[in-house]
Amino acid sequence: MMMRLVASICSIFVVTFCCAAFSLSDDTLNITESISFNQTLISAKEEFKLGFFRPNNSGKFYLGIWYNRIPVQTIVWVANRDTPLSDSFGVAKLENDGNFIVQDGEKRVLWSTKIKGSRNNNTVAQLLDSGNLVLRDANDQEVGSFLWQSFDHPSHAWIAGMTLGEDRRTSVTRNITSWRGMDDPSPGEYTFGFDLEGLAQATIWKGSSKHLRSGPWNGADFGGSLVKSKLPFTPQIIINSDEVYYGYSVNEESGLVMVQLSYTGLLQTSRWDNNSNEWKILQSLPEDDCGLYNFCGPNSLCNTSNVPLCGCLLGYEPKDRKEWDARIWSGGCKPLIPLNCTEDEEFMNFDGLKMPDLLQYSLNMSISLDQCRTECLKNCSCTAYADSGASGAGHGCLHWYEEIIDVRKLNGFPSQILYLRVIASDLVPESHSKKEDKTAKIVFPIAATILLLFLVAICFIWKKKKSGERVILGQQVEREAIRDEENLDLPFFNFDSVSEATQGFSDRNKLGEGGFGPVYKGVLSNGQEVAIKRQSETSSQGLNEWKNEVTLIAKLQHRNLVRLLGCCIHGQERMLIYEYMHNGSLDSYIFSDSKRQDKRHLLVWENRFSIIVGIARGLLYLHRDSRLRIIHRDLKASNVLLDIEMNPKISDFGTARTFGEKQLTTETRRVVGTYGYMAPEYVSRGIFSMKSDVFSFGVLVLEIVSGKRNVKFQHPDHEYNLLGHAWKLWAEGNGMELIDPLLKKDSCPISQVLRCIQVGLLCVQQRPDDRPTMSSVLMMLDSGTSLLPEPKRPGFSTQGYYDSETDHSIFSGGYSSTNDVTNTIVQGR
Ligand SMILES: *[C@@H]1O[C@H](CO)[C@@H](O)[C@H](O)[C@H]1NC(C)=O
Ligand SMILES: *[C@@H]1O[C@H](CO)[C@@H](O)[C@H](O)[C@H]1NC(C)=O
Ligand SMILES: *[C@@H]1O[C@H](CO)[C@@H](O)[C@H](O)[C@H]1NC(C)=O
Ligand SMILES: *[C@@H]1O[C@H](CO)[C@@H](O)[C@H](O)[C@H]1NC(C)=O
Ligand SMILES: *[C@@H]1O[C@H](CO)[C@@H](O)[C@H](O)[C@H]1NC(C)=O
Ligand SMILES: *[C@@H]1O[C@H](CO)[C@@H](O)[C@H](O)[C@H]1NC(C)=O
Ligand SMILES: *[C@@H]1O[C@H](CO)[C@@H](O)[C@H](O)[C@H]1NC(C)=O
Ligand SMILES: *[C@@H]1O[C@H](CO)[C@@H](O)[C@H](O)[C@H]1NC(C)=O
Ligand SMILES: *[C@@H]1O[C@H](CO)[C@@H](O)[C@H](O)[C@H]1NC(C)=O
Ligand SMILES: *[C@@H]1O[C@H](CO)[C@@H](O)[C@H](O)[C@H]1NC(C)=O
Repeated sequence: MMMRLVASICSIFVVTFCCAAFSLSDDTLNITESISFNQTLISAKEEFKLGFFRPNNSGKFYLGIWYNRIPVQTIVWVANRDTPLSDSFGVAKLENDGNFIVQDGEKRVLWSTKIKGSRNNNTVAQLLDSGNLVLRDANDQEVGSFLWQSFDHPSHAWIAGMTLGEDRRTSVTRNITSWRGMDDPSPGEYTFGFDLEGLAQATIWKGSSKHLRSGPWNGADFGGSLVKSKLPFTPQIIINSDEVYYGYSVNEESGLVMVQLSYTGLLQTSRWDNNSNEWKILQSLPEDDCGLYNFCGPNSLCNTSNVPLCGCLLGYEPKDRKEWDARIWSGGCKPLIPLNCTEDEEFMNFDGLKMPDLLQYSLNMSISLDQCRTECLKNCSCTAYADSGASGAGHGCLHWYEEIIDVRKLNGFPSQILYLRVIASDLVPESHSKKEDKTAKIVFPIAATILLLFLVAICFIWKKKKSGERVILGQQVEREAIRDEENLDLPFFNFDSVSEATQGFSDRNKLGEGGFGPVYKGVLSNGQEVAIKRQSETSSQGLNEWKNEVTLIAKLQHRNLVRLLGCCIHGQERMLIYEYMHNGSLDSYIFSDSKRQDKRHLLVWENRFSIIVGIARGLLYLHRDSRLRIIHRDLKASNVLLDIEMNPKISDFGTARTFGEKQLTTETRRVVGTYGYMAPEYVSRGIFSMKSDVFSFGVLVLEIVSGKRNVKFQHPDHEYNLLGHAWKLWAEGNGMELIDPLLKKDSCPISQVLRCIQVGLLCVQQRPDDRPTMSSVLMMLDSGTSLLPEPKRPGFSTQGYYDSETDHSIFSGGYSSTNDVTNTIVQGR
């Protein structure tokens, strides 16, 4: 309390001191006055200030408006965004023609309000307490008679009292445009405003393409998808066919609230926190991948509760199965059977979805929902319909034609019902088989004959080959290809022996299910225990990936890497045989629910430290010591297995890549990995290097120390994820608070724990170059006392967004990706 008081007195003191000397006497500027770089206008109640500012103390001066009462200079409007002054000799003033201008030292006009007014000697510029800069006649204070106002020309921020929108009659558009960079106020790529096509939709554009879209205005809200959390403001809305204006007001208790479009394309609503003297982000959109426009491609449904996020709508299948399985969603889905207005077409209703985008659609406000349905059935390209209003908010009918774009599951928001057209047989699987019955009558006898002949033939061959290896043509070719290509010296296992070892792949032997199929425990005839990763035929790991894994691991030998013992090919099916790891995966220990299993409890500090060091050694071997340079790309707790002595072994190389000797980074179109572990540059630009593995390692270290998952991390006091939380504690000198409460703090060597945290933080720094290499990591972990560098703010990485922007950058836990699942998993539990 005392601290707060002192702080606020200080800031007021500083402000009045600095400004009493240089600021103009009041909030109004007349034609004889001007503002130079060290002068400001302050609104009547001292809420806002107008003056020149220099971003990051650069040599560029911009005229802007910022909050006057808070110690963090927060710009809400910029006049000369494209034309900064390059020295301090410029001024802002009123021209004789009544325009407000910014001119440089040589009296060149860099920016002007450009009003074509009557020449009026009587114009004044006034900064209002709302943050609005207005030009008006000195004798006319009426709001409606402003000659010009900055609220009509928004920059990147949307503050209380200001409306955004569009007036079709006058074609005046008010939208906000992001900065180009953290310190660059010139207009950036992103624009936020309202799309008036059909029903108004709040939209962020990136360039000219859509980046984020709310649902269509339904008379009550934007389909539940613009305001997600409880925000402390009261919306003020005018929406009709001619104009859309959307603004908000804030009540006194809420203090300062601001919405701005960050240069990374996030629409952030923040509130000033008097206690901590910083902006707290209340909402940041898009808050997950599903919030990105058309993330899953046409005819699909994005669902953050699901793994994977994207799925085809009922009655649709992936356009390109291979790409879809590789999680390249952009192609979307196509109808299983084209709709052709036949009898058995039906509608299936879906609740809780964001309405599709209005691209090919029709809107008829005068027909009922029943008519809406009938009309849709009549037109073979009508794929969905809905009531255009929220229940109780008026009626109308929306039809969508052809592709359905940008549908997501809304989490916990009531919404309209979407009626999706489907072939009735898609709804009831039984009727599907009935259809087949008809054909079966004819086809069966023929097929049976062929099958019989085939079986006889197979038996014949099988008898002949029984003693030797099974030889089926395709298998032989594939096997030889691997041998030839890679000159592998890898044992091939006989399928029968593998089947025997797993008791015919019985469920009792199943250890788990990875992205590419189940993993079984087996005991070979010589008594050796193994883990068998079986790839189901429908699995998404392609032959290439499989070969990749086999050839890579076969060459690797290190005590911190899981050893591949051999492989087995059986028809289309492929299997890998690994050494069995008795203690399963690391995540089952460090993230175990303390009530249920208490395995976390078993993992004392000594174990945790030696696991950290072991993983570091394994990774160093991959990066440097093995004959190949290998980037793992998917290091995470569930890919670290523990043997009977709790030695960690890195597993799962399905996504690994080899590097040439000299190559340092590479780019990929396919970003594979696991949310929460992927480095920012990898997520956003597909650039991976050893330093992206180092990032994952850093996350892992912090997870091992804290016993908490990065992605699921939540804290009552802030929205940081585990990395942000760790950094905050570290920066405040409270590093030890990060440690897992199940570890007895007094029995842990504090300096070693802190060292691990520091190394973890160094590894997750934003810039790859700042992160240490694995060999320095090992040195840092080993060295007892030497001084380590101070970690910088961690790079934040969730699904393509990270924001190192300002003091209030987000380490949001808000991204609802709960999935710790990638393409591949091998686990010996
Ligand atoms: C402009 O304002 C200044 C200071 O308030 C005052 O001295 C001056 O007379 C004003 N000029 C006009 C033309 O109103
Ligand atoms: C303000 O800037 C002007 C122009 O650069 C300069 O002449 C004046 O001395 C400055 N005033 C103060 C108090 O720095
Ligand atoms: C801010 O300025 C410093 C020093 O001039 C510079 O090193 C840093 O890169 C700048 N920040 C940005 C984001 O440009
Ligand atoms: C504006 O002021 C100038 C000089 O002070 C004067 O010559 C001119 O007539 C005035 N114009 C109007 C429209 O009052
Ligand atoms: C934003 O508004 C400006 C005019 O204020 C307009 O020129 C521009 O096209 C708008 N941008 C978008 C994406 O609507
Ligand atoms: C925050 O502090 C400012 C100035 O210190 C004060 O005017 C305002 O009422 C405070 N707001 C809240 C919500 O406490
Ligand atoms: C979203 O995914 C969850 C989990 O798989 C599932 O239960 C739910 O039905 C899905 N929602 C929709 C609308 O498909
Ligand atoms: C759709 O129409 C085509 C011919 O126009 C027909 O062959 C096909 O069977 C129809 N599909 C269904 C599901 O009825
Ligand atoms: C709406 O539907 C009705 C009935 O089908 C039709 O008569 C009317 O023209 C439609 N209105 C519009 C604007 O399409
Ligand atoms: C179906 O609706 C679309 C869009 O309104 C229209 O272009 C098309 O002609 C309609 N088709 C039929 C068969 O009515």
